Amino acid sequence: MVTPTPDDKFSFGLWTVGWTARDQFGEASRPALDPREYATKLAELGAWGVTFHDDDVVPFGSDEATRTKILTDFKKATDDAGLVIEMVTTNTFSHPVFKDGAFTANDRSVRRFGLRKVLRNVDLAAELGASTFVMWGGREGSEYDGVKDVNAALDRYREGIDTVAAYIKEKGYDLKIALEPKPNEPRGDILLPTVGHALGFIAELENGDIVGLNPETGHEQMAGLNYTHGLAQALWAGKLFHIDLNGQRSIKYDQDLVFGHGDLLSAFFTVDLLENGFPGGGPRYDGPRHFDYKPSRTEGYEGVWDSARANMETYLLLAAKAQAYRADPEVQQAFADCGVLELSEPTLAEGETVADLLADRSAFEDFDADAASERNYGFVRLNQLALRHLIG
Ligand code: GCO
Ligand code: MN
Ligand code: MN
Repeated sequence: MVTPTPDDKFSFGLWTVGWTARDQFGEASRPALDPREYATKLAELGAWGVTFHDDDVVPFGSDEATRTKILTDFKKATDDAGLVIEMVTTNTFSHPVFKDGAFTANDRSVRRFGLRKVLRNVDLAAELGASTFVMWGGREGSEYDGVKDVNAALDRYREGIDTVAAYIKEKGYDLKIALEPKPNEPRGDILLPTVGHALGFIAELENGDIVGLNPETGHEQMAGLNYTHGLAQALWAGKLFHIDLNGQRSIKYDQDLVFGHGDLLSAFFTVDLLENGFPGGGPRYDGPRHFDYKPSRTEGYEGVWDSARANMETYLLLAAKAQAYRADPEVQQAFADCGVLELSEPTLAEGETVADLLADRSAFEDFDADAASERNYGFVRLNQLALRHLIG
């Protein structure tokens, strides 16, 4: 229906189409392909970039010569396919050594091993020309409150991230770290569970200037939160470095559905923000449109490629709808009626002091709160206009 091109900047984790569908309850339902085959096929479908964990390409524990050979071949395949390796990440969750986390494991030797695994991968990311280094601390957490000294865990988390960030600076790599929040799964509770927690954490870092966020649709929605608002606050803080788009239907396990196959109206507003920015202007996101989903276990490879296509198609369809929505004069009028644009006006006038505000009788003493409360904001009408554009 709509065909993606590299200009759309779509990218995929290798572990998405590469997921062989082994889950808690059953064995793999698809054979594994060579990592190069996934990359080549994604390029054929119109993707611009790929991303991967070290272990997606090089089996854990491979010796140096094997590692070099595999990576050289993989890089050649992506170059030949015209794909950009825009992001690299480290698997600090699959091997049982990380069962209590990596940077925040109670066992110090595991923390040192985890840090070494990450630093090794930072070198690789820089070598391959990636611009973002995602860190999803999936095992950083606990099942039981009493087993984790959260004060110490956050100290160790900070120590770990600051060490990696300092290393990136020392090496002069053109690389930024993007932390990925998630509330739970695989741990009962994961540290840095939401965008907000992660922003608070980044503010405590010494090298926080090169540390931002990689928010994932489903992760915020698993916590019952508004993903688009999460993106918005990350943008506002200058910290939206990368995104993981997918679909989630309500508060339950991490579904990793195709983008838009969860909360469609929310996906519409996500795309509207990414493509059109805030109504009143402000910071914009121009990074990769990165998908982190799982092709359902029912699918064979035909279904895997259908689902990869579906992510991009849905995004492009929503982008066209969102553009028409913003351009619609009725919507523009509704923005004005609703006060959406009025919100950009500072509450105090330029140069106005608190004393001036206190002296302004119209702001308080003579303010007619009852009259102001009679205002019909018209938010429902505006939302229906959005819906009309979406499904009309
Ligand atoms: C998940 C996460 C991961 C990360 C990936 C990159 O819920 O499993 O979303 O897929 O995004 O490890 O850091
Ligand atoms: Mn996920
Ligand atoms: Mn993710």
